[in-house]
Amino acid sequence: MTDSSANGSGGLMNRVLGRVVGRAREIELVVAALAADRHVLLEGPPGTGKSTLLRAVADELGLGFEFVEGNAELTPARLVGHFDPARVLSDGYDPDVFVDGPLVTAMRDGSLLYVEEINRIPEETLNVLITVMSERELHVPRLGRVAAAAGFRLVAAMNPFDAIGTARISSAVYDRVCRLAVGYQDAADEVAIVQRALPGTATDPEWLAGAVVVVRRTRTHPDVRIGSSVRGAIDAAAVAASLSSLRGLPATDPTVGLDAALVALSGRLRLREGCTRSAEDIVTELWREVFRPPTTDEAGGEGKVAAPSGATRG
Ligand SMILES: Nc1ncnc2c1ncn2[C@@H]1O[C@H](COP(=O)(O)OP(=O)(O)OP(=O)(O)O)[C@@H](O)[C@H]1O
Ligand SMILES: [Mg+2]
Repeated sequence: MTDSSANGSGGLMNRVLGRVVGRAREIELVVAALAADRHVLLEGPPGTGKSTLLRAVADELGLGFEFVEGNAELTPARLVGHFDPARVLSDGYDPDVFVDGPLVTAMRDGSLLYVEEINRIPEETLNVLITVMSERELHVPRLGRVAAAAGFRLVAAMNPFDAIGTARISSAVYDRVCRLAVGYQDAADEVAIVQRALPGTATDPEWLAGAVVVVRRTRTHPDVRIGSSVRGAIDAAAVAASLSSLRGLPATDPTVGLDAALVALSGRLRLREGCTRSAEDIVTELWREVFRPPTTDEAGGEGKVAAPSGATRG
């Protein structure tokens, strides 16, 4: 552990907290698990800040970070490394001819191997990781034994909605990692995340709170299987800002907001099987529900768009 003294840990927590909106508990647990030399699995829906949190923790701990995107093409050779075929012809199977993959790099350097979507990787690749997690070493044909330097840890992320292979990995991986469930941020944090993601874009706070409520309601809408992550809110605010200058209308204009929401959110909704409505229809419904024109009673003569209902409870 680079810095686990009491003073250092307090400073470390503050530095990570400065880079991540909220998530104090999750940051503390990840730091604690890594400090205890454990492998970590972060499990949560898309856009819940898993990568952001891990990058911030790794940076602030001064740990190296090898990033691997988990998918069906991640073969053991891609993860571990390979002998350069052209050089093998001239030099033979010399260790110098071996091109380290991210796993061997992380093991040699004692750094973190961050595997996104670990549940998507092929079984044989997963088996390599499982072995390394237990044994802290790897036998590579013709190269020999690669030992993990102190500090090597696997940090993996996965998405619980993604049914591909989740059952397959469960027991072997779960038994070798500390698991942290990462849920959706609360509404106030989502507003802060959008603001931080769009520096220099002045977004009306009331409008943004409403847009975040719309995005959050996509996650609980009865026709929707998977709603939008905070990335949808970031895109809606960014598109509304540019659309407003194209149209010469304020971003808070109802037509600007709804069009921005449609383009930012409709592709992000996964509708339930058998649902006959379109994603556009559902986004429109939610947008109008939140940004409904005030009734005469509510408006109190002000004539402005109603405050987004439920902006703080989402
Ligand atoms: N707590 C947070 N603080 C700052 N930014 C955040 C936070 N959570 C999410 N974001 C922002 O939201 C976006 C998505 O976050 P991130 O990529 O970390 O999510 P993820 O959980 O890794 O998603 P995925 O499962 O799709 O890989 C990024 O633009 C990131 O900057
Ligand atoms: Mg990620």
